[in-house]
Amino acid sequence: HNNSFALRAKILHFTDQPDVHQRTGYEYFADGVLVVENGLIKQVGSAEELVKNGFDLAVCEHFPEHLIMPGFIDSHIHYPQTNVIASYGEQLMDWLNQYTFPAELQYSDKDFALKAAEQFIQLMLENGTTTAMVYTTVFAQSTEAFFEVAQKYGLRMIAGKVMMDRNAPDGLLDTVETARQDSQNLIDKWHGKDRLSYALTPRFAPTSTPEQLAMVGELYQANPSVYMQTHLSENIQEMEFIKQLFPEAKDYLDVYDEYDLLGQRSVFGHGIHLSDDEINRLAETDSQIAFCPTSNLFLGSGLLDLARLEDAGVTVSVATDIGGGTSFSLLRTLAEAYKILQLQGQSLHPLKALYMATLGNAKALQLDDKIGNFTQGKEADFSLINLSPTQIQKSRQQQASKLDETLFALMMLGDEHNIERTYSMGKMVYSCHSCASQE
Ligand code: GUN
Ligand code: FE
Repeated sequence: HNNSFALRAKILHFTDQPDVHQRTGYEYFADGVLVVENGLIKQVGSAEELVKNGFDLAVCEHFPEHLIMPGFIDSHIHYPQTNVIASYGEQLMDWLNQYTFPAELQYSDKDFALKAAEQFIQLMLENGTTTAMVYTTVFAQSTEAFFEVAQKYGLRMIAGKVMMDRNAPDGLLDTVETARQDSQNLIDKWHGKDRLSYALTPRFAPTSTPEQLAMVGELYQANPSVYMQTHLSENIQEMEFIKQLFPEAKDYLDVYDEYDLLGQRSVFGHGIHLSDDEINRLAETDSQIAFCPTSNLFLGSGLLDLARLEDAGVTVSVATDIGGGTSFSLLRTLAEAYKILQLQGQSLHPLKALYMATLGNAKALQLDDKIGNFTQGKEADFSLINLSPTQIQKSRQQQASKLDETLFALMMLGDEHNIERTYSMGKMVYSCHSCASQE
């Protein structure tokens, strides 16, 4: 009995990619119940329906004005960059050299890395993010630190040690052989352990020699269930650098293609400035793009053309890209995504946006058999969301008469202040102490 509990609130989750006209692909219960047992979803439905089947509503903790949604999933984020957020005045290459690389140098110290991992995970949880695909640093001990803290909280996480053997400060460089050894050791130790998975993480082509990229390709082919994450076509100066470093490559994506780094488990961050050939090749190989709206705006990288990618059949996930990105909140991230698409005459419906941040990202990361919605038997990762934590949201939500309006106001105005509790495997891993309903 201790292992089972029920919450009653408004509940939204997705069963498929939503069709906003047919109103399919999602379930919304204005008065819903979520039953969790042994860390897994036991049941979800309307209170009325459950009562008809003999369920006793008195066992529920009741939040009539709150919304329960599956935990957010962040497909591209850098854990050593929490304190790089809001570093002034540079675009990608200078930002890396001036702010990011110096910050990452500190992670050779395991204790420092453990404290930083703890802070980073707390920040994700207070933003309602329960799963992420994470870059650590070049130091294997920083990857160990991240996995140890994620394991302690029982979180589902994907992470990997960054590989760089050129064009970064000496203190941040590995070699082909140390990168191979460290990565394989980390895979053996952590991949598939509890809820953790490994991602091979060559930072991006400018910081790896062709020999290192070839080695990563070998590891990727030899470990078919691991992921691969890197950056692609984010910034114009970066692309010029690629042309110098890899003059024989047809385009940027071709560099990764040459070393067998494309595929279903390959997540390419950004992908803003892509040719038709590159987009078609991504689609053909089921490789995917992580859309990082706040980062793309903050670093002045450019506007991702979502419709162009999706029309070509490329899977696109959404991500914060902390610390190029400016917020841990997937809600804020979706709001910036909306504005980026507005500038291109595209729209982002709140149902689609919230789908992307939950089931969509779970599918992209091939975790939708475990997380992403409230299908019976899935892992109970979710948040209790306050729809009106501020005056403006309260006022705006009072006027919202339709679900879409409620969700759009949440997506455009919401952030960590809306997250009242976060649960992982049915365990409360974050609770907002200053939130109104707990006073
Ligand atoms: N490209 C290579 N490294 C990075 C990074 O740390 N952040 C971003 N946004 N782009 C990168
Ligand atoms: Fe990034």
